Amino acid sequence: MILVTGSAGFIGANFVLDWFASCSEAIVSLDALTYAGNRENLASVAGDSRHTFVQGDICDAPLVQALLEQHRPRAIVHFAAESHVDRSIHGPAEFLRTNVQGTFTLLESARAYHAKLSADERSAFRFLHVSTDEVYGSLGPDDAPFEETTPYAPNSPYSASKAASDHFVRAYFHTYGLPVITTNCSNNYGPYQFPEKLIPLMILNALSGKPLPVYGDGLNVRDWLYVGDHCAGIRAALEGGVPGETYNIGGLNEKKNIEIVREICALLDELKPSPDGPYERLITYVKDRPGHDRRYAINPAKIMRELGWKPRETFETGIRKTVQWYLDHTAWAENVTSGAYRNWIDTNYTERGTGSGER
Ligand code: NAD
Ligand code: TYD
Repeated sequence: MILVTGSAGFIGANFVLDWFASCSEAIVSLDALTYAGNRENLASVAGDSRHTFVQGDICDAPLVQALLEQHRPRAIVHFAAESHVDRSIHGPAEFLRTNVQGTFTLLESARAYHAKLSADERSAFRFLHVSTDEVYGSLGPDDAPFEETTPYAPNSPYSASKAASDHFVRAYFHTYGLPVITTNCSNNYGPYQFPEKLIPLMILNALSGKPLPVYGDGLNVRDWLYVGDHCAGIRAALEGGVPGETYNIGGLNEKKNIEIVREICALLDELKPSPDGPYERLITYVKDRPGHDRRYAINPAKIMRELGWKPRETFETGIRKTVQWYLDHTAWAENVTSGAYRNWIDTNYTERGTGSGER
């Protein structure tokens, strides 16, 4: 069996659901159920005997040690994190705690557990750390995409905390021989993404007739990957990745933010037209994010060449599926956009001039 942290969040939940769709190996899930974690994301495997869900904090060393001793996983797949750049600007301390202290706690527990395994189990064990391309910093318009050898240059409290965690993971391989693998992925989108991130926020705001708040000039570039393709890349790295190595995962889909927003508007015009006219009328330019990275782009050649991974979705197929998913899951969206969510929207957007939604 494997231990998965952060499995009630966006990518973790997709990973668990995809895993059970293609394999029968058991999973123990560890998730603190912060604002971003939602048991409902795992509802379809709630009664499945292969899945055990534990609500708990990755910073809780006795709990993590007990789970390892009790369930004896062959791998840890580590998603749990504070993941939103804007929140890291408003409150960086929680990012330091979960992303750095939490990863450190898992590494320490894994090191003690690994040392007690038999020789065969020891060599088969993997600690797979899920990280981000944001650790590499920001690219200029003509720079080559990030490679695994690109120097780290994190610019936000979020990316700084992820970079710190990546360094600890690396050190545990070099110093203690813990068989770690790190994946650095570009921006994901797809089902179950919490609607504080660009794509679900724009879909849900458009459907409620609220402004579509584009930061700055809207020309920042992200390299978008459908979440199912990210999960397939993680599985490939878990099964075939070389301990101590890092793998960049990306969709070869560089897009400016304004292009993404326009594409979402066009899809909604087709799938759920508004009586008030095209959704683009709601696009509103707002105050930029401080320290806003201009461009991210991933070169995924290593994972494609060495592990045979490649993305299955183009941006066009992936975004259509995603918009359709949000249209089909309005109850999910209503559940996650209650009290605490509305406070966040007020915090982030009032200062940008769009308040909590009304123009
Ligand atoms: P998310 O915010 O949707 O989910 C994070 C999950 O971690 C939630 O279920 C939350 O409850 C849980 N969690 C938070 N703090 C915890 C703690 N202290 N103990 C236990 N659980 C805790 O994030 P996501 O978008 O699914 O991202 C998952 C991972 O992938 C993160 O490590 C992130 O850095 C990385 N990543 C995300 C993207 C992206 O575009 N979303 C891209 C590349 C890498
Ligand atoms: P986000 O989804 O927060 O991911 P990240 O900052 O990790 O890349 O944002 C993606 C891009 O969209 C980023 O350049 C910021 C921008 N953005 C907006 O223009 N408006 C918004 O309301 C949000 C949430 C993001």
